[in-house]
Amino acid sequence: MTTELIVKGKLADNERLKAESNFLRGTITEDLKNRITGGFTTDNFHLIRLHGMYQQDDRDFRAERQKQKLEPLHNVMLRARLPGGIITPKQWLAIDKFADEYTSYGSIRLTTRQTFQFHGVLKPNIKLMHQTLNSIGIDAIATAGDVNRNVLCTPNPIESIVHQEAYEWAKKISEHLLPKTRAYAEIWLDEEKVETTEHDEPILGSSYLPRKFKTTVVIPPSNDIDVHANDLNFVAISDNGKLVGFNVLVGGGLAMTHGDKSTYPRKADDFGFISLEHTLAVAEAVVTTQRDWGNRVNRKNAKTKYTLDRVGIDTFKAEVEKRAEITFSESRPYEFTERGDRIGWVKGIDNKHHLTVFIENGRILDTSSNEKAGISKALKSGMRDIAKIHQGDFRLTANQNLIIAGVAEEDKADIEKIARESGLIDDNVSNQRKSSMACVAFPTCPLAMAEAERYLPKLVDDVEIILDKNGLAGESIILRVTGCPNGCGRAMLAEIGLVGKGPGKYNMYLGSNLGGTRIPKLYKENLNEQDILTEIDSLSARWAAERNQDEAFGDFAIRSGIVSEVKISVRDFYDD
Ligand code: HEM
Ligand code: SF4
Repeated sequence: MTTELIVKGKLADNERLKAESNFLRGTITEDLKNRITGGFTTDNFHLIRLHGMYQQDDRDFRAERQKQKLEPLHNVMLRARLPGGIITPKQWLAIDKFADEYTSYGSIRLTTRQTFQFHGVLKPNIKLMHQTLNSIGIDAIATAGDVNRNVLCTPNPIESIVHQEAYEWAKKISEHLLPKTRAYAEIWLDEEKVETTEHDEPILGSSYLPRKFKTTVVIPPSNDIDVHANDLNFVAISDNGKLVGFNVLVGGGLAMTHGDKSTYPRKADDFGFISLEHTLAVAEAVVTTQRDWGNRVNRKNAKTKYTLDRVGIDTFKAEVEKRAEITFSESRPYEFTERGDRIGWVKGIDNKHHLTVFIENGRILDTSSNEKAGISKALKSGMRDIAKIHQGDFRLTANQNLIIAGVAEEDKADIEKIARESGLIDDNVSNQRKSSMACVAFPTCPLAMAEAERYLPKLVDDVEIILDKNGLAGESIILRVTGCPNGCGRAMLAEIGLVGKGPGKYNMYLGSNLGGTRIPKLYKENLNEQDILTEIDSLSARWAAERNQDEAFGDFAIRSGIVSEVKISVRDFYDD
């Protein structure tokens, strides 16, 4: 290994705890038995992430409990591993039941990384949760923490053959890069203890990765999974409706820290084309190069994107070629033209029907998040009723929506009836609402600085009125809100991105494009909710008056000089 490419210095504490964890076991089992606290202690607090869970408490009640001298009401959020986001109706019914019986919010939360989360599971129910999932063939291994996480795949319901092949690769990549330790099986499924050694963890090693790592398989022209938010992307190249290989994009990522210019969102670089048989070797080589060269001293600069910028793209790529024993050939042409989900019915080439339903904020619950507007929806019951009769599968999208896929002609009417009655199909949802997205933020996310999911519905109501007033009814702007600059709602790939700064305060970024191939640029800082509406009003009025034919808002914002274009991520992003 080339040692001069390794960052020297005192290792971050997370490195110690991973190395000392005995391959992710820690003392989680002992902690589970400890009922004096509802939480996990010391290193286990972090280690449970590698088992798919975050320790949380409801921030709405934190101060009240503190006043009463009670410890926070600790619980966990669980994120399932679901490569490509596919769930069978039978699995759905078990997930639905668990959410009802054992989560404090009663919801199933579809996420921007194509999986679902349970929020608010108390310690005594955690083991049952993993066992319930295991009984339906689902686990939560490595969906958080410094590992390769859930592998995304464009759900593309139309081209069934390409999708099936791409999906199989997403599954294979996920399996290949999984931790091999038996810690998960031992702790949660009561399986026999078998020691894991360094030799058993050849890809990730005993200290795992320097930071989280995200992988996708994407089927152009849709960039629904947002390649530039991910460390490693396989862009499906097909020939005559058959997958022949992938262009490989490395080093995307959106997180940054307010005020720290050593952190920035960055687009992934194109390494070139590989044929199918090299997929796993290349995935492994990118991961192990990042494992060995990633910054283990400073976690803020530990992701692949910073490693690429530090060692140089050519050096990183050459190392991947060496380790995978391949040579990248020239990238094959493709184009990303869209990112949204096609809400409604589409017919696939296999003559099956597929219904994409819009789920605001991905929150599946029987009361809509837009309760104040008097809208009541029975999304969860509707999904349960559909799962009872559906013969195909469900596909979660990376836009927090859901596809009821593979419906036969004769079942279409029944499914449509349930979907309409429960609000899963709602013809009144505007294009603007369909183009809007938020991360979870309050009350569960411990890192939230401002509201996101709870703010979005009202924000969209107001934006709809503004667009209408400015003669833009039916038009839409990709609008995304995240509660902090970590960027889980992918605001840093939005035409208008709002990034939480403090309670009720957001920085506004403008200028991504429809295909998601441009990072937006800071426009104004510290806007309150009224300022945001004032800005969107004047910006959209200009867009209406001055745009070229069919010019999207983000493109207009750049062409008209409202913000300058971010071409080379860091330099243009910070203007120096
Ligand atoms: C340093 C960076 C990051 C940290 C520390 C972080 C941390 C977290 C935490 C604590 C949550 C739990 C929120 C909850 O459900 O209550 C969360 C949710 C989530 N994060 Fe991140 N995150 C980071 C960056 C990102 C990025 C860049 C993405 C994707 C591009 C992402 C994707 C998600 C997703 C999909 C969820 C689930 C909620 C949703 O759909 O919005 N995260 N993250
Ligand atoms: S962006 Fe920040 S506030 Fe939103 S879920 Fe991620 S970590 Fe939490």
